[in-house]
Amino acid sequence: MTNEELVKMAEEAMENAYSPYSKFKVGAALAADDGSVYTGCNIENSSFGATICAERTAIVKAVSEGKRKFEKIAIVSSSGDTTYPCGICRQVMSEFMIDAEVVFKDKNGNIIVEKVKDLIPKSFVL
Ligand code: THU
Repeated sequence: MTNEELVKMAEEAMENAYSPYSKFKVGAALAADDGSVYTGCNIENSSFGATICAERTAIVKAVSEGKRKFEKIAIVSSSGDTTYPCGICRQVMSEFMIDAEVVFKDKNGNIIVEKVKDLIPKSFVL
């Protein structure tokens, strides 16, 4: 799975975003180490705190299917520019994929790759 292919899958997943409140769509595509890919979108709720982000949707789908090792996750949004994950999603990434990479697209369409470790240095561990 190339970074470009993963971003494309995230863009497709973004179309399913349920975001009537913010009108902001996010899509994610998570590549597991066995070659499988799990996608996610943000799903909002009228009780705003019940909203789940696209990244966590993808991660909980994969983990609930028994996957535990991930290589990378692509994140896209309707903003037209790079959208970095929120703090809660970074923390969840640190739990399951601290050695993985995060793939984004910038406003010019260029692929950007970051390390989860760099996005959440000194993360909380129990
Ligand atoms: N959102 C995500 O899906 N991922 C993030 O990392 C940040 C925010 C969503 C949640 C909400 O539906 C909308 O973006 C605005 O906050």
